[in-house]
Amino acid sequence: MGHCFVSFSVNLTLILQLACAKIDDVGVHTIGGAVASIVDDIRVHIVSGVPSNPTPLWARCRSKDDDIGMHKLNNGESFSWKFSMNFFETTLFFCHFYWGSHTNIFTVFDRGLYEKCDHGTPHYDCFWVVRPDGFYFNNDNKSWEKMYDWS
Ligand SMILES: *[C@@H]1O[C@H](CO)[C@@H](O)[C@H](O)[C@H]1NC(C)=O
Repeated sequence: MGHCFVSFSVNLTLILQLACAKIDDVGVHTIGGAVASIVDDIRVHIVSGVPSNPTPLWARCRSKDDDIGMHKLNNGESFSWKFSMNFFETTLFFCHFYWGSHTNIFTVFDRGLYEKCDHGTPHYDCFWVVRPDGFYFNNDNKSWEKMYDWS
């Protein structure tokens, strides 16, 4: 668990802003005199590749600590979020997908996918595209690999 703080706005509307240390952490650590950068910038992208009619895609992604919220995606639309791996490398996000009568739920980021999201830049990307025949993954937004069917 990261350290969280709560800030209050001055007006009567109470705005709770929860900021957890593991989100948007940026750090450079010195190891034995050499500077090694820590991969603390991981982005998961969810892309809709399904027709929006008669029903668009809905996706809700969460971890134990964070709720990315429910997103409605028309064909071609996407959303993404950014985070860092926690110290114990147990960070895990899963998403629930709804498209008409179709649903599925699975892990979109964990220790195993972490390495697959490395594409040789300081930040990692995990792309998921949702298609009529199932769910495809890659780290370059190009070479899609089918991972799951709709359940
Ligand atoms: C992924 O590719 C699509 C289509 O080429 C493009 O519109 C989108 O901006 C790309 N996303 C990222 C994060 O590069």
